[in-house]
Amino acid sequence: LPRQRWQGSYLYKYNGFWFSTMQMPGLVEFRKHFQARDSDVLIITTPKSGTTWLKALAFALMNRNIYPINQNHPLLNQNPHTLVLNLEYLSPHDKQHPDYSFQGSRRLLGTHCPLALLPESVMNSGCKIVYLCRNIKDIFVSYWHFTNKLGSTETSFEEFFDLFCKGVSLSGPVWDHVLGYWKASLDKPQKVLCLKYEEMTQEPAFNLKHLAEFLGCPISQEEETAGAVDEILGLCSFDQMRNLEVNKSGTLGNLRNHAFFRNGKVGDWKNDLPSEMAGRLDQITAQKFHGSGLDL
Ligand code: A3P
Repeated sequence: LPRQRWQGSYLYKYNGFWFSTMQMPGLVEFRKHFQARDSDVLIITTPKSGTTWLKALAFALMNRNIYPINQNHPLLNQNPHTLVLNLEYLSPHDKQHPDYSFQGSRRLLGTHCPLALLPESVMNSGCKIVYLCRNIKDIFVSYWHFTNKLGSTETSFEEFFDLFCKGVSLSGPVWDHVLGYWKASLDKPQKVLCLKYEEMTQEPAFNLKHLAEFLGCPISQEEETAGAVDEILGLCSFDQMRNLEVNKSGTLGNLRNHAFFRNGKVGDWKNDLPSEMAGRLDQITAQKFHGSGLDL
């Protein structure tokens, strides 16, 4: 596969998208062997779009009957990525395929896999997809800070930016990734729900209720009056999650959980991105999204 040196390692170009050494084996297995079930829910994003938040919200929402929001809730002592596993990071052990049979009857899983590369059963089954998108400049800045925490500073900010613009980023090109799911959400609104990070921060309650309806587990008036919406939003809020012991000192592989919680702001790109770089990203975004109706 064509490859590109990237942060002390490589990204590989596979069917038009770029994946890390860590993603590749699991991604290939996922495409070959994963069988979606009608009841499955997949959380899909490009990295740094707010995956951690959406995983937490969907987990709390879907399991609210099994795990009431109290001091024993799993999200208080586990990172959302260990509760909602990313399919491409499940690698085959001892030449066996990853075991996808976990998590009972209604599986909640994550992936950064682009739409064009999903296994057929995902689109052909009743499985639901929740896709989260975010402003591209905020994704880029968040992604830069995050990859620096992976341990290598081999790639300079300018090189990293240049590669990102050329589509060479984790699961990139980011624009193609977003557009694939955006279009699918217009074609199949019962199957694919596209949420926006910015809208979720502005109107969290509205978006949470919308998500619950889409997933077929609507929040009843009684539940809402009893405080269910606020409880879930509070449990999954940035400040609450970032300050948990598990997210301050826990690890996920060679990464500290803390790396998933930076500042969670909209428009933070202004602090890191010189105006000519911001302009270049805006220009590419305008060109790529032209005519799609998508505005990020
Ligand atoms: P910033 O780097 O801009 O702060 P992902 O989960 O896809 O890796 O995305 C990480 C981004 O989501 C980071 O953005 C992170 O701070 C933000 N984030 C993490 N948890 C969040 C939460 N509970 N609410 C809002 N944003 C959150």
